[in-house]
Amino acid sequence: MSFRQNHLLGIEPLAPDEITAILDLAEDYVALNRSDNKNTDVLRGLTQINMFFENSTRTQSSFEIAGQRLGAHVMNMAMQASSIKKGETLIDTALTLNAMHPDLLVVRHPHSGAVDLLSQKVNCAVLNAGDGRHEHPTQALLDALTIRRAKGRLHRLNIAICGDIAHSRVARSNLLLLHKMENRVKLIGPPTLVPSAFAELGCEVYEDMQEGLKGADVVMMLRLQKERMDGGFIPSEREYYHRYGLDQAKLSLAAEDAIVMHPGPMNRGVEIDGTIADDINRSVIQEQVEMGVAVRMAAMELLARNLQERRAAAA
Ligand code: NCD
Repeated sequence: MSFRQNHLLGIEPLAPDEITAILDLAEDYVALNRSDNKNTDVLRGLTQINMFFENSTRTQSSFEIAGQRLGAHVMNMAMQASSIKKGETLIDTALTLNAMHPDLLVVRHPHSGAVDLLSQKVNCAVLNAGDGRHEHPTQALLDALTIRRAKGRLHRLNIAICGDIAHSRVARSNLLLLHKMENRVKLIGPPTLVPSAFAELGCEVYEDMQEGLKGADVVMMLRLQKERMDGGFIPSEREYYHRYGLDQAKLSLAAEDAIVMHPGPMNRGVEIDGTIADDINRSVIQEQVEMGVAVRMAAMELLARNLQERRAAAA
């Protein structure tokens, strides 16, 4: 068994063989999800609680479907209506839930590090569904599976990540993963959104999108995370689209068979032209969503196996 983690808090602690273990198992789930009977009993008897302290469409529904297809009892906490609104701390909420003996906790939180903190207070497996600007590991894993399927490999690729890198947990998790798997990663955006410190992480940083896109096998576009910006990071959306929006002319500088990715939600006409997003010969955005369910099923299965081993050893 090559997956050795108790939690999935980020890509940072994972070794390359652990990443591969998740992706390989996810392949089985891609096949299952495309078949008529999508039900398994891998998580039968286990309880999965989803706690989303931030809005989410795809990630929350993806985790919910993943848990259901694995046969878990899945509960979505309505965080907007929870006691957090009455002043209860994250830790008190966690302890309350912990007393109900959940097995898997899926948590999204606006503060970087909050999910990590929570994992130290509970005795179940915790999955980070996005914490502040820090990490969003299942997004990077689903992106990796999408890339591996489209390109036939996950190493030695030329990958451009474009846009609001500074505020993006998706970018952070992706660049950690893509480096571990030995790819060339290029970050593209205005200096206000791509801090030069990222160069220290081994990335190439480009302010000029035309320059950065040259020869890219994968073009990953990111949303402007306005909710995390405390002032003007760009002159205007029109100006931004002109310089950093992915259109046909800019995409033509990438490799001829380059794929276009976006984690969603997309702002058409701001970071990406709508016709490119919808171009089935280029865009793998729908595949990303499909891979999301499979990757989450795989991650939850591997964590549940480790949890059950720990419990058996402690008994
Ligand atoms: C992202 C997120 O929430 O981090 N969305 C997602 O999970 N697919 C990216 C974003 O909000 O722009």
